[in-house]
Amino acid sequence: MKMNGRTILITGGSSGIGLEFARQLLARGNTVIVTGRRETALAEARSKLSGLQTVSSDSSNPDAIRALRETVLRDHPALDVVIQCAGLMRKLDLRKTTDFLDVTREIETNLNGTIWTNLAFLDHLRAMPEAMLVNVSSGLAFVPMAVAPIYSAAKAGLHAYTQSLRLQLKNTRIRVVELAPPATDTPLFYGDFNKVDTGGVKPMSVETMVEKAIRGMENGQTEIRPGLANVLKLLGRIAPNAAVNMTSKAAVEAMQKAPV
Ligand SMILES: NC(=O)c1ccc[n+]([C@@H]2O[C@H](COP(=O)([O-])OP(=O)(O)OC[C@H]3O[C@@H](n4cnc5c(N)ncnc54)[C@H](OP(=O)(O)O)[C@@H]3O)[C@@H](O)[C@H]2O)c1
Repeated sequence: MKMNGRTILITGGSSGIGLEFARQLLARGNTVIVTGRRETALAEARSKLSGLQTVSSDSSNPDAIRALRETVLRDHPALDVVIQCAGLMRKLDLRKTTDFLDVTREIETNLNGTIWTNLAFLDHLRAMPEAMLVNVSSGLAFVPMAVAPIYSAAKAGLHAYTQSLRLQLKNTRIRVVELAPPATDTPLFYGDFNKVDTGGVKPMSVETMVEKAIRGMENGQTEIRPGLANVLKLLGRIAPNAAVNMTSKAAVEAMQKAPV
């Protein structure tokens, strides 16, 4: 599917991968609308990218997603692509976690939010001549990183859901694409994590990652796994224990040195 002249909604487009998608897709002559929760971040994105349209919306809130659907389809009835980048990633010590609702925040945004947003736009996209849903998972969908346990679970769930969605939509005009980025140079990568947590991995530049993603979307790839994400998928299959040791052992040992 050519990524020119489209009308594209990007959730979580005020920062990192979503913002870079917006930059590259605007440069190709697409209409781009991005969401995020913080109005200040959306205003900053608008000031950086001429022509960018924004809607403040929280992907972890079903009412906000319903309102987003109303606004976007009223203002942009030609919407034909939805790219879901909204997400958070936290370091969590499960020995110390006590708050039931807080512990699953990544599930609410990264997994439930993605499912709800797809649901909100499905009927509209089915009526379009050609459409695409892009769910952004992670290399950690294939091998967990134990210091980010709920994030890894959410992304593994998103991978499984996306496979099912693709099969169920096989006879429609909607293409379902999973983008599984590797470690990428964005605020999320540096947020909670130090060099031990990330195994000293050098993140891919966000410009390169998004270039590869757009190329994959145009070339008909259904699962786009740039760089190390592809290595994780293969290693997770042929040597799962070695793979999880690679992503997690040193960081968990460091975490366990801290008192409970
Ligand atoms: N960077 C990496 O190494 C990496 C690797 C693999 C996968 N990914 C995935 O790529 C996606 C984008 O990550 P990133 O690295 O670009 O992170 P980022 O720079 O932190 O950007 C996250 C974006 O999501 C928005 N967001 C967060 N929670 C939201 C919510 N509940 N509703 C709506 N928007 C929300 C943020 O804006 P507000 O805070 O204002 O809402 C922001 O625009 C995520 O799904 C992440 O899991 C990233």
